[in-house]
Amino acid sequence: SSGSRIDTWWRSHQVKGVVMSKVELVIVLAAGEGTRMKSKSAKVLHEIAGRTIIENLLAAVKPLEAKNLTVVVGSHKDEVIEHLSKIAPKAKTVFQEKRNGTGGAAQLALASHKGDGTVLILAGDTPLLTTQTLQEFIDLHASQKNKASVLTALLPDPTGYGRIIRGDNGAILKIVEEKDAADSEKDIDEINTGVYLFESKVLSAVISKIQSNNSQKELYLTDVISLLNDQKDFAHAILSNDYTETLGINDRTQLAECAAIMRDRINNQHMLAGVSIIDPTTTWIDAGVKIEADVVIYPSSSISGESVIKSGAIIGPRTTLVDCEVGSDASVIESFATKSKIGAGAKVGPYTYLRKGTVLDSDSKAGAFVEIKNSTVGKGSKVAHLSYVGDAQIGQESNIGAATVFVNYDGENKHQTKIGDQVRIGSDTMLVAPVTIGDGAYTAAGSVINEDVPAGAIGIGRARQVNILGWVLKKRKDSKSAAAAKKAGAKE
Ligand code: UD1
Ligand code: CA
Repeated sequence: SSGSRIDTWWRSHQVKGVVMSKVELVIVLAAGEGTRMKSKSAKVLHEIAGRTIIENLLAAVKPLEAKNLTVVVGSHKDEVIEHLSKIAPKAKTVFQEKRNGTGGAAQLALASHKGDGTVLILAGDTPLLTTQTLQEFIDLHASQKNKASVLTALLPDPTGYGRIIRGDNGAILKIVEEKDAADSEKDIDEINTGVYLFESKVLSAVISKIQSNNSQKELYLTDVISLLNDQKDFAHAILSNDYTETLGINDRTQLAECAAIMRDRINNQHMLAGVSIIDPTTTWIDAGVKIEADVVIYPSSSISGESVIKSGAIIGPRTTLVDCEVGSDASVIESFATKSKIGAGAKVGPYTYLRKGTVLDSDSKAGAFVEIKNSTVGKGSKVAHLSYVGDAQIGQESNIGAATVFVNYDGENKHQTKIGDQVRIGSDTMLVAPVTIGDGAYTAAGSVINEDVPAGAIGIGRARQVNILGWVLKKRKDSKSAAAAKKAGAKE
């Protein structure tokens, strides 16, 4: 079928080692208001898989090695320009002050560029396009010697997209927008993906002729197709075999739909590379995450930002990792960690909160209801239960007893705590920083430690216990406690 045309052509040409065609100019249209998003930020800055919509698109464009990249900006232009300066510093931006349609946007971009060659035009809101599809499209356009080509797709539900009206010769007669389409045209399921290739001279000659006599009173870029047809410079439809790549985002339902497609794409890549994902529908992994083979990810987990997960690690269930490094054979269960390094063989969770600057060395442990920030837990050391560790350096093979608090804040400033190797901190110790506990030292359970404890010493910082014999029998005479005490032989 024509649905697999790109694929077949591509394979045969790859075998022959044909040099890939290059385009002179890529124009990305990103000036629109994005009204349907109902958002206070720009549409193209909404995120999928940890990258903005436009960043996803430009990631697919980059390997094409186009000579020039122009992005048309308008709505929220400062935000968009600022973002582009980070993700695509070489991109040129053109400002479309009056958002009079995709045709107006393309006119501006084209006018600001001198030079011939092939122009690739893309909508900024199609983040699922891949380099491979774009390159195949470019190569087909070149090999067919087209003056204009439109990437088209067959959609199960074409509502909202421009429909492709083909002429008797198979070329495109015109593209009709949903809002201007007759009922019979709405039945057509071949749509305009918003991806076009034009020979720049041909495009420049007709683009000034488009008019806004349509239902939206806009200049439609799509109208150049019928203008070209009139002068027998036919535009050819090149049908993509994977419509999911060409979906555009106009509202939040489409944002979620595209995010789910991207999620599946990313998860599939990891699974094929040897990662076990128990429930791919509830596992969200950002595009920038690196995961080695033999990692197992349990359901309802998300791994985002620049995280790196090493071989043999176990993540989840219900775990969120943001910009974290997890060492080989470590496990992170039912936990939330951000900007933390979890060493090889370390155990985290369940219910652990690791904040920025946490470093767990190899074989260490951060257990249930433990919060750690800006601290290092040395090799083999354990913070097993119910503790807060802030601004601390803990040495090797030390044990921090349950419910220990590193009291790092005096109300105005944060202070450091240092714990040596082979230290045993008794349960419920308050370590009032700044304070240092020497190698091999102990603290007594329930201590408030606000002075250094030298190596090998035990620090005891609590009131000595006093037992007042017979107190209950006297002060709670007829109570159940008094009765129990009497039964046990207690005397007044
Ligand atoms: C457009 C196409 C439609 C196609 C669909 C594919 C037109 C007239 N229609 O419709 O045939 O099926 O894309 O996704 O082109 N933009 C500007 N300046 C403007 C208006 C829009 O830069 O004045 C930008 C937008 O930011 C967006 C892109 O152009 O990135 C497409 O605009 P949008 O309003 O989303 O067009 P669609 O209605 O989706
Ligand atoms: Ca759109």
